[in-house]
Amino acid sequence: MTTEIDWEALRASAREAMTHAYVPYSNFPVGAAALVDDGRIVSGCNVENASYGVTLCAECGLVSSLAMTGGGHLVAFACVDGDGNTLMPCGRCRQLLYEHSAEGMLLETVSGIRTIDEVLPDAFGPRQLVEYRRGHAGGGDIDND
Ligand code: THU
Repeated sequence: MTTEIDWEALRASAREAMTHAYVPYSNFPVGAAALVDDGRIVSGCNVENASYGVTLCAECGLVSSLAMTGGGHLVAFACVDGDGNTLMPCGRCRQLLYEHSAEGMLLETVSGIRTIDEVLPDAFGPRQLVEYRRGHAGGGDIDND
């Protein structure tokens, strides 16, 4: 599967997205791009905020673009810093990506091509919620005692 993915095109798309970053506070622009299972490429850049914690990572924009342009699942992902070098998605963004990942999604990382399961092992995801609900079908309200 790795050989079918045009990583250079994904990197180029991430670099282009990075040029749109709004980073007056960190001066650390980030661009992210991903191949969707229908063949399109979605991307995003980080957008900071005077209230620092409200900052949107590049992956947030990417996932928003995914939903806005037809949904689907992410097959391959690349992220770059301001020099165009590969950057690891932060922990929160690994979770964001996991939610929308295709089975076996690949990421370009600082240690080579890795799967989403390698960068977010034993992940919490939609399946856990479905299994919980299934086990509690007809069980009424959740009792927190
Ligand atoms: N950043 C991202 O956009 N994605 C990541 O996965 C890592 C961090 C941004 C957030 C902030 O604007 C800047 O990088 C410095 O933390």
